[in-house]
Amino acid sequence: MKIMICGKGGCGKSTLTVLLARALAGIGKKVLVVDADESNLCLHRLLGIHQPEIMMDAMGGRIGTREKLKQASDHQHEDDFFKQVMTFDNLPAECVTEADGIKLLVVGKIKEFGEGCACMIGGISKAVLSRLQEKENEIVLIDAEAGLEHFGRQIDKSCDLVLCVVDPNYESIQMADRARQIAEGAGVQTYFILNKVDDNVREIMTSNLESQRIIAAIPHNEEIFLQSLTGQTLTAGMPQIEAACTFITSYRKPLSLNMKM
Ligand SMILES: Nc1ncnc2c1ncn2[C@@H]1O[C@H](COP(=O)(O)OP(=O)(O)OP(=O)(O)O)[C@@H](O)[C@H]1O
Ligand SMILES: [Mg+2]
Repeated sequence: MKIMICGKGGCGKSTLTVLLARALAGIGKKVLVVDADESNLCLHRLLGIHQPEIMMDAMGGRIGTREKLKQASDHQHEDDFFKQVMTFDNLPAECVTEADGIKLLVVGKIKEFGEGCACMIGGISKAVLSRLQEKENEIVLIDAEAGLEHFGRQIDKSCDLVLCVVDPNYESIQMADRARQIAEGAGVQTYFILNKVDDNVREIMTSNLESQRIIAAIPHNEEIFLQSLTGQTLTAGMPQIEAACTFITSYRKPLSLNMKM
């Protein structure tokens, strides 16, 4: 199952990706975290996993990547980066690190002034996710860049589910509803995880969202905040994440959506 974790800037996408990855690995799932955010640098630190070689760098930077993406789209041949069928086990070895049942793949990062836009990084994400065939016990969590651009790049088309993290502000709520609408157009269902909420805020947010799509409500947690502030591994226990895990492990894509794809 491939799950896109999206939402407004700073809502908690990376935090929730890490908490979900840990919780799912804790119940025996094999998890691949795909860092698809071209800007943020520290997901590996939050996960407590060494940073692998960035895939775009391993592919020869922009020049090498352009060529490889073209070959991949022309189906010219398989190479070390884009197999016709990609699996958890045949991903390019130097681009994957692993700890405690969680693998990490980092797609690409913007590093230099004027190097070009992030579309190429989106192109790699799309090429990998569209080829990746995970097994029943394997879950892919994609930590998206902030906002809706991944939809514009059609990266979500290969996903089974979109989880939109919604923190307490009006813009975040509006974006969550927009994400739901856009994903539906691609045949993918969106569910919401409320983040940084107390009971009062939760009630207000629930009345402004399709409440049956809310699968978990995560409170502000000072330990998480401080670990994140100091670039440490997130180790804080968060029992509320279990509801999201249960939802994920029991989720079956509606048949009508399977047919649409
Ligand atoms: N439940 C929580 N309790 C306390 N702090 C939180 C919680 N969720 C997220 N945060 C804090 O909010 C900030 C933003 O979180 P995070 O980096 O996960 O957001 P993001 O959506 O991935 O951001 P970006 O859009 O930059 O990728 C961080 O300081 C993080 O520690
Ligand atoms: Mg992030």
